[in-house]
Parts: sequence; structure tokens; C-alpha cells
Amino acid sequence: MDNRPIGFLDSGVGGLTVVRELMRQLPHEDIIYIGDSARAPYGPRPADQIREYTWQLVNFLLTKNVKMIVIACNTATAVAWEEIKAALDIPVLGVILPGSSAAIKTTQSKKVGVIATPMTVTSDIYQQKVQLLDPQIEVTSMACPKFVPLVESNETGSSIAKKIVYETLAPLVGQVDTLILGCTHYPLLRPIIQNVMGPEVKLIDSGAETVRDISVLLNYFEINRNREAKHQQHCFYTTAGVASFQEIAESWLGQNIRVEHVNLEEALNDTSDL
Ligand code: DGL
Repeated sequence: MDNRPIGFLDSGVGGLTVVRELMRQLPHEDIIYIGDSARAPYGPRPADQIREYTWQLVNFLLTKNVKMIVIACNTATAVAWEEIKAALDIPVLGVILPGSSAAIKTTQSKKVGVIATPMTVTSDIYQQKVQLLDPQIEVTSMACPKFVPLVESNETGSSIAKKIVYETLAPLVGQVDTLILGCTHYPLLRPIIQNVMGPEVKLIDSGAETVRDISVLLNYFEINRNREAKHQQHCFYTTAGVASFQEIAESWLGQNIRVEHVNLEEALNDTSDL
């Protein structure tokens, strides 16, 4: 047993799609979440900068004494998961392998689409992971740089969102039977994406798939939180304004949560002085 929280990080609110699934599948676990909305989107940024920002988020989570870190961001996973996993002595999960495995299991036509941020698409990581397991699968990737700003500005239900999603995904329609939502922000646009792609296309939510792996690791290392332990203390941190994060998060998670603003530079300097 280990009653410490699980740490989640994302460039903004996208990782909440993983958290919602965690709350459903593993309701006893405590959560510490950091979303870097002040610097989102990460997707169009250079790899070195994404790596640096991701390490800052990881170091912040480490100050909160987490027992496991979930990089609930495909872009950060693509750029930095391997090195972070190698450097830490607690389990570190990314969201890309679980999404790839789920797509392989789901596709019938062996034509899989991936929609993701520009960095995730450039890294080619989904194609590599899927084809490593099944070289016969044809992977078509598409960058959707306009989607994350729509989600961060809480416009997922707007007519602008519908127009952008429709126009962006039009070339993929009819081309694939399975579509990986290769960015944790995209499940917030899921109804529109499903509508554009058609009901027969299976959407893979990488974040949701990741929770199954979290569960396996908690069991394997015997670090589940004690069900008898005192009440839960989830805490959500954002580098931007609390109000907007809270509005999106509470509507997505369907419950009231505690959100605090964090200045990463100050938070990390404070600890280096200790
Ligand atoms: N949620 C992040 C991901 O899964 C979005 C990255 C971004 O900020 O562009 O890739």
C-alpha cells in the first residue's frame, strides 16, 4: 500500500481526460495535477523547449511527494517520456503506448488514423509504435494545431469549433476505421469528431487507455492507496488563471475541485533553496 498521490501533468486542461477516467476506474486514488495553461499549446513549440517545460512540471510534482507520474500529454510523452522514465525511481507512464495498443486491437481494415499536435505528428511516434507491433497497419497522421486552443478557451461547443473540426478532418473521412485521439485535449471535442468521422469509426482515447496501465502498475508494485485511508485530497494546479481552469475542469469532471495557481519558477526556486 502507498497512500501518496499520483501526479499528472499536461500542457493545460487536456490531462483531465485521463483524470476523469482515473476517477471512474480507480476512485480511491489521490490526484495531484499540474496544467501549464500559461504556456499551452506545447504542440507547435521546439522539442528542447517542450522537454524543458516537461521537466519543470515533473519537478513540481516531485515536490508533492507523488508515488507515480503520468505524463498525460502526448506531445510531452513523445519528446521526454524515455528520459524522464530513465531518470526517476518511481514509475512514469506516457499515453502513447496504451493508445497504440488499443488501436491495433480495434482496427478491422488495418487503416488507422492519428490526430495529434504538430510535434507528436512530426515525431512519428504513433506510426512507429503501431507498426512495431503490426507492420501491416497503415497509419495516416494529421496535425490539428487549431484544436488545443479551442479546448483551452472552453469553446468546445461553439459553432466555430464545429467548423474547424469539420474542415480539418474532412480529408480523413472514409479513409480509416479507427482514429486515435493522439492528444489528451481532443476527447473534449469527441462528439464533434465522432460526428464528422461518422458513427462507424472507432475513436481511441489514449488517456482512457492509459488508466488500465496505471492500474496494472499499482497492482504490480503493490502501491494502491489504502481504501480505508482518510478522505481524499485531490489538488489541481494551473500556471494560468484559476477561474477558467476550474470552469472547464468542474464541468468535465462533474464535481467541485480545489484549484490553485502556481508560479513554477517560484515553486521550483523555493525547493532548490531548501
Ligand atoms: N494535451 C497535449 C497532448 O496530448 C496537448 C499539447 C499542446 O499543448 O499542444 O499532446
